[in-house]
Amino acid sequence: MKSSAIAHSNIALIKYWGRSLDHNANLNIPSNDSVSMTKYGLTRDMHLQTHTTIDFSDAYEEDTAILEGEVLIGREMERILRVVNPLRKYANIDCKFKMMSKNDFPTQAGLASSASGFAALAIAAVNALGIDFSKEEISTYARLGSGSATRSIHGGFVYWNKGNSHETSSAEQICGPDEFEMNAVIAITHEGTKDVTSDVGHESAHTSPFNEVRIKKSQEQAKEIRKAILNDDFSKVGKIAEENCKYMHAVMMTSNPPLFYWHPDTLKLIKSIQRMREDGLECYFTIDAGPNVHCLCRPEDTYELQKTLEKIECVNKTIRVRPADDSFVIKEHLF
Ligand code: DP6
Repeated sequence: MKSSAIAHSNIALIKYWGRSLDHNANLNIPSNDSVSMTKYGLTRDMHLQTHTTIDFSDAYEEDTAILEGEVLIGREMERILRVVNPLRKYANIDCKFKMMSKNDFPTQAGLASSASGFAALAIAAVNALGIDFSKEEISTYARLGSGSATRSIHGGFVYWNKGNSHETSSAEQICGPDEFEMNAVIAITHEGTKDVTSDVGHESAHTSPFNEVRIKKSQEQAKEIRKAILNDDFSKVGKIAEENCKYMHAVMMTSNPPLFYWHPDTLKLIKSIQRMREDGLECYFTIDAGPNVHCLCRPEDTYELQKTLEKIECVNKTIRVRPADDSFVIKEHLF
């Protein structure tokens, strides 16, 4: 019972930040709907994707998960089990598994490996166990490993309905990768792991006096941005995404304890992006829980934007991305 899958990472346009306090925190049910673009890296050998193989067999004496050659233990293994255990139960199978996973990008580069990782795991496990689930159903199991992985099951532009139970907190596709024209250039100023994991942030978001406002605005913006995507309105999508990113970082900075993910270079990039826009290159920034900046642009401006970003002293590396296809099952196994 072996299966493999490839899943892509995603960039949130409307952010998930903070879990609903009405549910068990382990369910990762968010306090607001969110929207993202699933990313395909336009680099010859780096597409920002994870390849995962999982095998269930009586031959294994214990569950094992290996990421980039390292055997996972502690919290990392717990997160894998949060996805696999309920699926194993659903399939009524009690044998052990071996999982192996590798990213085609550096795991520590601040490029959100958990979204692609848990999406690939959920797809591979569902397929290996022979469960007949829709993509929406698979997305609810990816969510148990990492919230943002919920959205990485689909390609293109994706809407995660917060829902009010395990079954209803799932992601659906707004439109496919070729139906809305938007690319992004990732400007990397700092590689390395986050100082504070998103997990800690999801717990503390509600301590910010601005969080209630952010939740309310995010609900409205999620619906507005979905409409703007369907209307092919790049300017509106960019403006809403930038606003929503600022709301999330305002909440982070005003939580207890406060979370400052920005570095001075992050602010330098924000200023540069504002200047580029004034000079006629229409682009918008969005930033997740780290210092690196995603700059959203029209496809025809991608190269020019990359060249301009690369000239900025603090930028170490840039990666061009376009909307990815759906995540998928592949025949090629890692072991
Ligand atoms: C800021 O809980 O999905 O990227 O720690 O990588 O599992 P991991 O992150 P997750 O939180 C993501 C938070 C965010 C916004 C977003 O992707 O919506």
